[in-house]
Amino acid sequence: EAAERTERIESALDELGDDVVILGHNYQRQEIVEHADFIGDSYQLSKEAAQSDADYVVFGGVTFMAESADIITDDDQSVILPSMEASCPMAGMAEALQVDAAWAELTAALDNDEEIIPITYMNSYADLKAFCAEQGGLVCTSSNAHKAFEYAFEKGDKVLFLPDKHLGENTAHRLGMADETVEWDPWDAEGTDAADAVENDIILWEGYCQVHERFREHHIESIREDYPDANVIVHPECRREVVEAADVAGSTSTICESVAEADPGETWAIGTEIHLTHHLQRWHPDVNVVPLCGEACMDCNAMRQIDPNYLAWVLEELVAGRERNVIEVAPEEKGLAQVAMDRMLEI
Ligand code: 13P
Ligand code: SF4
Repeated sequence: EAAERTERIESALDELGDDVVILGHNYQRQEIVEHADFIGDSYQLSKEAAQSDADYVVFGGVTFMAESADIITDDDQSVILPSMEASCPMAGMAEALQVDAAWAELTAALDNDEEIIPITYMNSYADLKAFCAEQGGLVCTSSNAHKAFEYAFEKGDKVLFLPDKHLGENTAHRLGMADETVEWDPWDAEGTDAADAVENDIILWEGYCQVHERFREHHIESIREDYPDANVIVHPECRREVVEAADVAGSTSTICESVAEADPGETWAIGTEIHLTHHLQRWHPDVNVVPLCGEACMDCNAMRQIDPNYLAWVLEELVAGRERNVIEVAPEEKGLAQVAMDRMLEI
């Protein structure tokens, strides 16, 4: 069945030729990335989408990535997501409507002469990116979050960081601002209220990645017992204490580059989604690549929605002249979301 499906995908791709480009995020399964023209992190893939002049950009990834691709590609290009179910739970933790209501509370609690700037991680929906642009803020990725904070502190006095509290906290530490940081959940009646939150310079929205949050310090301790020379590398969506115990923290492309540059025989323990660990094992058989925490629990169920059968289906539909699962950002949000992304590109 797998061989037949591969044949269907390849023959549709032959028919479509240069009309289609396939992008595969580092967390996609092998049966998807083996068909990808480009494999990379969320930011690199958006740039590949922008540089391509293919009519159809088929995105092996999750909704917010396909939206970002739609924002930066030309209007006559269609971005297609093989499954509409592939939505990152963390992006869903900061809905623009909720943020709007919380923002009103925060800004009301500020002193008159103070300004707060919102920064949203790339892992968010286009309407939130548009909201950030409107309020003078911007987008960042895991590799440029510190620069986005610096930009925001040049413009304003405080930062609201969304949706990933761990990336926000790790960035605050990097900038020596850990003591001026607070987690804030506007719906937690028992927790910090808006008036107390704005006493701090960095306010972290209560969002997290359910894959990376599962890594714990004891996983690093046990890897170091098993492999005393191991280099431990983790994604900055991991908890603060995990990032601190690791040797390196970085985006999925940093993880790929670090293993690619390793000497043969070195051990690298990878603290991120399990499919990337498996790719690295295949791509670098001379390096000892091990998952930081077993196999089973580090699978992203949003990424997993992109089943190769769906890839075959959307491609065959394109051959038949039908565009399925097109991801289209509303025109009124597109321009503003683009502003928030452009501000990131400028820093
Ligand atoms: P990267 O931007 O590092 O590829 O990460 C995307 C992601 O979803 C991490 O959980
Ligand atoms: Fe979202 Fe985490 Fe999955 Fe990345 S790994 S797509 S942040 S749930």
